[in-house]
Amino acid sequence: MADKSYEIMQSDQIASDIDGYLRDQEQKSYLRFITCGSVDDGKSTLIGRLLYDSKLIFEDQLESLESDSKKVGTQGGDIDFALLVDGLAAEREQGITIDVAYRFFTTEKRKFIVADTPGHEQYTRNMATGASTADVAIILIDARKGILTQTRRHSFITSLLGVKHIVVAINKMDLANYSKETFDEIERDYRTFVEDMGFETVECIPVSALKGDNITEAGENMSWYTGPALLKYLENIDIESHEDEAPFRMSVQWVNRPNLDFRGFSGTIVSGEVKPGDEIVALPNAQTSTVKSIVTYDGELERAGQDQAVTITLVDEIDISRGDLISEKLRRPEITDQFQAHVIWMHDDPMLPGRPYLIKLANKTTSGEITDLKYKIDVNSFEHEAGKTLSLNEVGVCNFSLDDKVVYEAYKDLAALGSFIMIDKMTNATVAAGMIDFGLRRATNVHWQAVDVDKSTRSKQKRQKPLVLWFTGLSASGKSTIANLVEKKLLALGKHTYLLDGDNVRHGLNKDLGFVDADRVENIRRVGEVSKLMVDAGLIVLTAFISPFRSERRMVRDMLDDHEFMEVFVDTPLEICEQRDPKGLYKKARSGEIKNFTGFDSPYEEPEQADIHLETADISAEEAADLVIKAIEEKYL
Ligand code: ADX
Repeated sequence: MADKSYEIMQSDQIASDIDGYLRDQEQKSYLRFITCGSVDDGKSTLIGRLLYDSKLIFEDQLESLESDSKKVGTQGGDIDFALLVDGLAAEREQGITIDVAYRFFTTEKRKFIVADTPGHEQYTRNMATGASTADVAIILIDARKGILTQTRRHSFITSLLGVKHIVVAINKMDLANYSKETFDEIERDYRTFVEDMGFETVECIPVSALKGDNITEAGENMSWYTGPALLKYLENIDIESHEDEAPFRMSVQWVNRPNLDFRGFSGTIVSGEVKPGDEIVALPNAQTSTVKSIVTYDGELERAGQDQAVTITLVDEIDISRGDLISEKLRRPEITDQFQAHVIWMHDDPMLPGRPYLIKLANKTTSGEITDLKYKIDVNSFEHEAGKTLSLNEVGVCNFSLDDKVVYEAYKDLAALGSFIMIDKMTNATVAAGMIDFGLRRATNVHWQAVDVDKSTRSKQKRQKPLVLWFTGLSASGKSTIANLVEKKLLALGKHTYLLDGDNVRHGLNKDLGFVDADRVENIRRVGEVSKLMVDAGLIVLTAFISPFRSERRMVRDMLDDHEFMEVFVDTPLEICEQRDPKGLYKKARSGEIKNFTGFDSPYEEPEQADIHLETADISAEEAADLVIKAIEEKYL
């Protein structure tokens, strides 16, 4: 999601020896880092100062900065570095919604990519996006305030995302009398706090982003500090992983077939190396072959490695499609449709277990649900808490069940194959980021049992096509009454039916469920599964549930084959339902005795395209039932 890269560099070498300069540039290593902290901690000032002091700002930007600072004058004639970064941010905000700005700068020693994430409310999402690709996280602490909840949250999320190196910039030392004691105390507290988080290195540096102490150079105010200045530290930190050679994996983005003679698989190598002659396996199909060539725009390669985008051709014709994974033959990733993962919830609408979401992992997208929120994690105390949902910015450990198998690796082993995002099916919004902990074995040893008598045999015997008639509408809208009449009419026509009614099912199968959103989702999920079994038995199923959410009604439709689901919207205005009030529930809801009542403090999402729309204000229940019979007679009976 990089928007613009600000390539900012000044070097005399450019003029005198451009080739040498470019060669040096190519050979320099990249360091990706993220800064965590809010504007108050001096985050913008710090980034601005880094860019300014290393002379990495365009001249014209510098001039306008100087004049802006004089105009705004928060720093009494000095340059206000926050203006620089915020200025860039404003430029960025003219675009659509970009949460993270990636800035590029370079020094003589190294190239840097800074993920700059706005510090406002939705910061977890922005932070997580930036941190997911960072080698180093700079955690800013205001020396006067010490470690805050936000410091803990940021540190926890960076550790969750697998960032290995932390730099704690203890800032505003100028306002803390450049005190060594203050610095030592914060350092001690912080080290204790992150002890078990699995960071490889933690470095604490006392700085003043405003005055420049220890940003690019030591300055004169903290002679007691003998460590490196921030930029020096970033230039020298060793981020190479010292692990064994990583196994080769490439996620297939598309199958490249310009003509009959060429068939290549294009994608980015997410780990390891590949060369012609290597034996590979394509997953999930598990067909094997040997690499014939590695093709790029610049010709064929002898070998290719991590992060390179290439096209691979194979010796054999094997079946590979978009979203598949090509792996080296011996060390393979795992395949599963159930796993446990850490989830960072990033949306205002809370997570609802049982609701189907799209799960995008590497180049593969499939539908799936959270079957179980095992616990939430309090980011301050790391305590585990029970809960039914996750709200914005909350972190939880969840079990997932997917409709299709995915090729994956635990996040700690390979982030590119262990991380995924969750997308709301109705709005297409990204709602969460997840990190896979491990696959769940329970599913692997359960197989489908082949049966000889199947749906078509059963429905032929009953001389009917199985069908679900899904009645939805407010409480007291008339769902049960109409469904009951329809069932009698079907029976008279010689049909085999079953009526599942909300109130009745809630006395048995679903008696553990209440009326919060999560429970309503689970209610409908179970009823959907039961309906599906009944359709398999060859029955015509009638269901009468409020079923207030589009997403779950859609889920049941998707569970069934085409033409097996008809949504019947019993459209009765709230006022009429309230007048009828057969069970006295509206009265109780009005007086506040019942909470989460549909139509009051719990939503009802009307169908956008019901198969049958019954406006009951103008017709009797009997007439409504006839309309339903007429509609299905035309299509089904
Ligand atoms: S659903 O929303 O989960 O689909 P369902 O149809 O099973 O609801 O149950 C609705 C019935 O439960 C209502 O017809 C009503 O009799 C009863 N009920 C009790 N409390 C509530 C509530 N808070 N909201 C809606 N219905 C309620």
